[in-house]
Amino acid sequence: MCGIVGYIGNKNTQSVLVEGLKKLEYRGYDSAGIAVFTPEGLQITKALGRLANLEAKLDGAPLVGNAGIGHTRWATHGKPSDENSHPHTDGSQKFSVVHNGIIENYLDLKDELMAQGHTFTSETDTEVISHLIAREYNGDIVKTVQKVITLLRGAFALGVLTEHEPEKLVAVRQASPLIIGIGEGENFIGSDIPAILEHTRNVYILNDGEMAVLTHDAVELMTIEGNFISREMIRVDWDAVTAEKGGFEHFMLKEIHEQPKAYRDTMLGRIDNETKKVQLPELKMTEEQIKNIRNVQIIACGTAYHAGLVGRTVIEQLVRIPVETDVASEYRYRSPIVSKDTLVIVVSQSGETADTLAALREAQSNGAHVLAITNVVGSSIARDADDVIATLAGPEIAVASTKAYTSQLIAFNLLGLYLAQVRGTQTAEEIAHTLAAMQALPEQVESMLEQAEAIKGYAEQISKHEHLFFIGRGLDYAVAQEGSLKLKEISYIHSEAYAAGELKHGTLALIEDGIPVIALATQENVLEKTVSNIKEVKARGADVLAITYEEHVAPLLKSVDQAFAIPKTLPLLSPALSVVALQLLAYYASLALGHDVDKPRNLAKSVTVE
Ligand code: F6R
Repeated sequence: MCGIVGYIGNKNTQSVLVEGLKKLEYRGYDSAGIAVFTPEGLQITKALGRLANLEAKLDGAPLVGNAGIGHTRWATHGKPSDENSHPHTDGSQKFSVVHNGIIENYLDLKDELMAQGHTFTSETDTEVISHLIAREYNGDIVKTVQKVITLLRGAFALGVLTEHEPEKLVAVRQASPLIIGIGEGENFIGSDIPAILEHTRNVYILNDGEMAVLTHDAVELMTIEGNFISREMIRVDWDAVTAEKGGFEHFMLKEIHEQPKAYRDTMLGRIDNETKKVQLPELKMTEEQIKNIRNVQIIACGTAYHAGLVGRTVIEQLVRIPVETDVASEYRYRSPIVSKDTLVIVVSQSGETADTLAALREAQSNGAHVLAITNVVGSSIARDADDVIATLAGPEIAVASTKAYTSQLIAFNLLGLYLAQVRGTQTAEEIAHTLAAMQALPEQVESMLEQAEAIKGYAEQISKHEHLFFIGRGLDYAVAQEGSLKLKEISYIHSEAYAAGELKHGTLALIEDGIPVIALATQENVLEKTVSNIKEVKARGADVLAITYEEHVAPLLKSVDQAFAIPKTLPLLSPALSVVALQLLAYYASLALGHDVDKPRNLAKSVTVE
């Protein structure tokens, strides 16, 4: 998830671009850059790190002109560096491109271009686009871009400029967001409305497969095949703060709603739809190393640890090797038993958590191969790990993690299937079946989000309580732990998560009249057992909400007070759905109590101290 902005008009282009990028920094801050048509031609300035570094460079050498494009980067292909920063150009420096998204087939395209004599200066997927545009240019930038799009596979939003036609700015949307801002004698593009809100409130929202050609005085909208379209202009009446949150009241709610996209992006390019196999070309681990793995240790903190609990079952079920999951602050001091055939997986949204980083180093010093699942490609954990699987959730702003957690679940499923593929522990049919179910998840989450009101009502009820319990068995227990943490951290309601079968060994003493119990009941192999545990708490007066599949709602309603149905999926994938209900529950409970949802007391987004 990167941010792009573009401008054509008579204002100070550099300042319009930089101010726009400031509003998009939430989409990535690994590096930033702008390209501007100056009287000397197309000039590009870019800088690693926060936007302030770019501003410092521009202070010394401003770019003056009447059109430009800008980019703030969230690294995916290629580490954060000056070279990998956007805008990218081709060898002739006549074309410039900013890109948000992923080009799945960039390696094949790059090989082809290199064989034709093109020289690349970055490791990015984006640079192939500028070279392709230069190769295909036929005097008409619009037609050239249309031709190049047919060669690209993946998700992209693009802004394109060429010195040959300085009066035009071309924008394309294919599965990554892009809006067009309409001004007077000036026009804009942006990944998001805040980028342009200072200048105009009139926008067109591009749909997938559409493009726009901007000049000073006009905007033409067309499909990527070149058929003109007419679209009603939207007048945005959000204030600037609401706009940054995409119209949502809080970043957390926005991020909950971004999960379908985060799932799709994390799967993008990693599922081969023809062979129905997982491909993880980023892994350095050889097939032989994978076949030699004797055990797996998953290490993380907080919500990432809860993703690791799900990861344990996923890998054990798919690969049939022993897996343990540990909290990083415990692991690092317990003299863990590790060999060169131990695969250690560290999980971290930020990639900077001090305990997880220390655990990584502890495991490495004991000879383990360490694979990081992280959301920040340029982070300390990503840099130190032997292998990295990036979750492509985009920056997470709310302190309470949502889309990063669910993207970690997707990453674990992809990894588990990949290991199973290499070790032959799943048949091709089984793998294809699971992949198809994974690809259905984004739409299933979308359908759940439409039912948010039902959860809101229940959240308002529980917000009146001081204590509550989450119970579940197997993966439902792992999700219960995440649901309980989410509720605690933003609503400050005390809650505990218990393995449903464990209650009777002590905790049942706490169940009294009216206490809310949220029972996760998606694991069908233990459904009857869970129902027995529900009956145990019901008999002591608990008020039970069940989260289950539609088909179990009616029978369960004989034992519980309320039920919320989630879409049907495979047992290993149910956490990626059921947790969404618990995230909404925590969110609405916090809202009902009037707390600061995005910045809960005593907590920080990145915990870089022990
Ligand atoms: C809770 C939450 C934290 C983090 C934990 C680890 O919502 O976000 O529990 O999961 O601090 O952080 P990362 O994943 O950045 O290592």
